[in-house]
Amino acid sequence: MPQKYQNLKQSRKFKKSSQLWLRRQLNDEYVEKAKIMGFRSRASFKIIEIDEKFKIFKKNKIVVDLGSAPGGWSQYCVDKVGHNNVLAIDLLPMPEIAGVKFLQQDFLADDAVVKIQQSLKEIPYNSKGLCDVLMSDMASNTMGDQTTDHLRIIGLLEEALDLSLKILKVNGCFIGKIFQGGSSDLILKKLRGNFSQVRYFKPQSSRQDSAETYLIATGFKQLQSI
Ligand SMILES: C[S@@+](CC[C@H](N)C(=O)[O-])C[C@H]1O[C@@H](n2cnc3c(N)ncnc32)[C@H](O)[C@@H]1O
Repeated sequence: MPQKYQNLKQSRKFKKSSQLWLRRQLNDEYVEKAKIMGFRSRASFKIIEIDEKFKIFKKNKIVVDLGSAPGGWSQYCVDKVGHNNVLAIDLLPMPEIAGVKFLQQDFLADDAVVKIQQSLKEIPYNSKGLCDVLMSDMASNTMGDQTTDHLRIIGLLEEALDLSLKILKVNGCFIGKIFQGGSSDLILKKLRGNFSQVRYFKPQSSRQDSAETYLIATGFKQLQSI
């Protein structure tokens, strides 16, 4: 890993926490690789690794990408599933990706689910408004307190999972970001009850000092009535 930016002088202009972040970014091999390969974010490598392991994204599959900005996951998926089959949602703006429909929207807002379902119905030959893959890389800004951060991410994951039970096609797949440890028993129980296989997966490209990991649930059993 190149250490050439280790003593970045400009970083002294920033607060201590930002300096640490900057140094980590500049010394991160995946940030460097993402730039070279034209990926929107280092997160692209995580979804590539997930797909290599679980073989999820195939031509004509319909994908919902929750917490999509800046767009690394959507960028990868649209190449695999084809144009107009990816619906991306984020609080933040996301620069356009050809073939990806983007909703700038708080996923936790009351009207979010209806808007997502409407957008899915607008996909050609998808009048039921269902999808094959629902993935959530959503993460709220960390507060520095591990318990609070964990609870917030669990909250987002629970909401994403509840949506997946309403919009996934039978045999569909759910991918959700979670932090290791803590109170996720309810989520695991729900996942195991609704999917035939549930596994944890931590990609190599996920920072090894981060508690972040992913839950991959495949073989969705049955749609819940809305
Ligand atoms: C780690 S980033 C996602 C990176 C993305 N997968 C990529 O490949 O570029 C997490 C995203 O979740 C979004 N997010 C957090 N809470 C959200 C919410 N309530 N509704 C929508 N998006 C949310 C953030 O705005 C942020 O862009």
